[in-house]
Amino acid sequence: MVIRDENDVRGLLAIGRICAQTLHYMMGQVEPGMTTAELDRLGAAFLAKHRARSAPILTYQYPGATCISINEQVAHGVPGSRVIQPGDVINIDVSAELDGYIGDTGASMIVPPVDPAAELLLKRTRATLNKAIDAVTADAPLNLIGRIVEGEARKYGYRTFRELGGHGVGRTLHEDPRNIPNHFQPRLRTKMAEGTVFTIEPFFTPGIGRIRTHDDKWTLLTIDGAISAQFEHTVIVTRGKPIITTLLN
Ligand code: MF3
Ligand code: CO
Ligand code: CO
Repeated sequence: MVIRDENDVRGLLAIGRICAQTLHYMMGQVEPGMTTAELDRLGAAFLAKHRARSAPILTYQYPGATCISINEQVAHGVPGSRVIQPGDVINIDVSAELDGYIGDTGASMIVPPVDPAAELLLKRTRATLNKAIDAVTADAPLNLIGRIVEGEARKYGYRTFRELGGHGVGRTLHEDPRNIPNHFQPRLRTKMAEGTVFTIEPFFTPGIGRIRTHDDKWTLLTIDGAISAQFEHTVIVTRGKPIITTLLN
């Protein structure tokens, strides 16, 4: 969406914060031995307590309130009977609606013992999200996001996934601009129009960067079994620095 007034900003900040709090809460609840369905139920209850509705359910009748993806699972991991193990790399992605506005945020974490290479992967992915956010300003080329994300990935010897990128958000979960690639697309000529709401969500993998869909029709997996990391925020474009709607406080 493109924001029209302060009400839009208020609505987006309200749900953005709830998404961030839900994500933070769920990350704090992660324990080895727990199933992803149990973790998802905690997230679902937290959202309900704040009157927020799961955007994946609302939009796609997705079989879970949140997406929980472990190790070789890249994104859209369906909560279920998988038991969280020591050393797992877990991504939690929370998107939700309140009063007609939507927020979308995600983060990856490691269940101890922490593998140093995995830790570095997460740190670099998060830093790249911040670097891309810093580049957001009215009239900048939209392909700057992919230029930065791909550039950082190359620098570290990681790969991104062609199929996965950011997207417009705000009134619905996935809206215009439909796809904000995590790789540089010289032919993408769109500019960041003032007031536009979209997500930035770099994914990095030390593997070959190819995915397939699981038999469950939702979960995306690396074909080589490699891990990946994703960090995501929802932003509003302004003439200056963007407004990040999915900050904790
Ligand atoms: N939050 C995801 C994103 O970043 C979308 C999840 S929709 C689902 O775009 F249906 F796949 F869960
Ligand atoms: Co998203
Ligand atoms: Co998301």
